[in-house]
Amino acid sequence: MKPVNVGLVGLGTVGSGIVNIFNKNAALLSKRAHCSLQLSHIGARRDNQLCDTSAYRVSRDIFDVVNDPDVDVLIEVIGGTTIAKDVITQALKAKKHVVTANKALIAEHGDALFKLANQNGVALKYEAAVAGSIPIIKTLTEGLSANEVSSVVGIINGTGNFILSEMTSKGREFADVLKEAQDLGYAEADPTFDVEGIDAAHKLQILASLAFGRWFNMGSVSTEGISKVAPKDIAYASELGYRIKHLGIARQTSEGCELRVHPTLINVSESIAKVDGALNAVYLNGDAAGGALSVGAGAGSLPTASAVMADVIDVAKSGSAATSAIDFEGEGHVLPLDQCRSAYYVRFVAIDRPGVMSEVAQAFSKCDISLEAILQKEKRQSSDDVVDVVLITNTVQEASFNQAISALKSNGAVVGDIQRIRVETQF
Ligand SMILES: NC(=O)c1ccc[n+]([C@@H]2O[C@H](COP(=O)([O-])OP(=O)(O)OC[C@H]3O[C@@H](n4cnc5c(N)ncnc54)[C@H](OP(=O)(O)O)[C@@H]3O)[C@@H](O)[C@H]2O)c1
Repeated sequence: MKPVNVGLVGLGTVGSGIVNIFNKNAALLSKRAHCSLQLSHIGARRDNQLCDTSAYRVSRDIFDVVNDPDVDVLIEVIGGTTIAKDVITQALKAKKHVVTANKALIAEHGDALFKLANQNGVALKYEAAVAGSIPIIKTLTEGLSANEVSSVVGIINGTGNFILSEMTSKGREFADVLKEAQDLGYAEADPTFDVEGIDAAHKLQILASLAFGRWFNMGSVSTEGISKVAPKDIAYASELGYRIKHLGIARQTSEGCELRVHPTLINVSESIAKVDGALNAVYLNGDAAGGALSVGAGAGSLPTASAVMADVIDVAKSGSAATSAIDFEGEGHVLPLDQCRSAYYVRFVAIDRPGVMSEVAQAFSKCDISLEAILQKEKRQSSDDVVDVVLITNTVQEASFNQAISALKSNGAVVGDIQRIRVETQF
């Protein structure tokens, strides 16, 4: 049987993991692919000490690999959305199957690239783009293919989960844990994509498109990061029986799809509340299968390379029958945020005078919101004339909640900013 030749562009964290898997598991890869699977050409500007490439042909210009007529399957792990797009476009046009870990590129240009792959009769695979070692794309497209999926809820950024977990278990400040995450290599030098939820939004957009069968465009996901979560919020949430996690939530409702990424209070009894450290977790709900939670390493050299190689094996095994298995029925309709429904945790500082708590309750009840829990914290010092107030609402439409918060802000007894974090009760 003709060998299947793999070209690799990018030799960073993920690229070196791929080389290490080829070096360690060469025989197993070919066995699983039902053919001789060979790493035939690597494109890298420089060597990477984390892997041994001495057995392979290496070119310094990545387009030498893209244009190599012997390469059947091209792996793109350079990242970014410009040169990577050119690499993938050229490879698909040359009728090479493509495997990528690039969530930003798939989120931004996936629709057009899948069409290009279909036109050229080749596959564009991207299991590694979402949730690292968890085979979530395969679960949605194959395992649950007989289901209407109603929701996808996940911790889909390991850096954010690491930061919140450390803040929870050790009472540390956000900036302090972020610095450690950077030192450990979890977070990028510019951590904006991770901590502001952009990375999670890219992944949620991809998962929602697969789950609901319609393509959601960039910017469809309402996105809030974790930088404003204070140790105080974590402590109060814990007192009320909750953990704070950074969740991506895609939910099909009769009015449209809710697509949002934000810090979220989750009852401690939920399994997903216990997923700590840099792990990822995704909870899928199918009408036949019911709910299923998958947990695993969301990033890192080998876990990500493992997902890349699973796609490569799939493509090699399927040969000319390999496809991206994607057939979107047009564009998805996203429900505006003010029409989404959620319960809320609210924290603010109030002047400690008689009647304040009943004014607070009135501001909410006027908007048809009831309060499930309310905590008026003790003054830190007897000389203080203000106290922290913490409450949790029932599930309400965001528009009504915003009205209640405006009323609260105009109450002279409320001092400074009002913290608000959504509470998720449906899994
Ligand atoms: N790291 C993870 O855990 C993880 C997890 C899931 C998905 N991903 C995705 O996987 C992709 C790669 O991530 P990574 O962490 O491996 O990134 P990385 O460590 O920064 O590696 C990227 C590599 O690509 C090379 N490169 C970039 N542009 C190039 C060009 N024009 N020509 C030649 N080489 C070029 C870089 O070379 P230089 O060093 O010379 O710049 C670097 O070696 C990204 O799309 C990322 O989102 C990563």
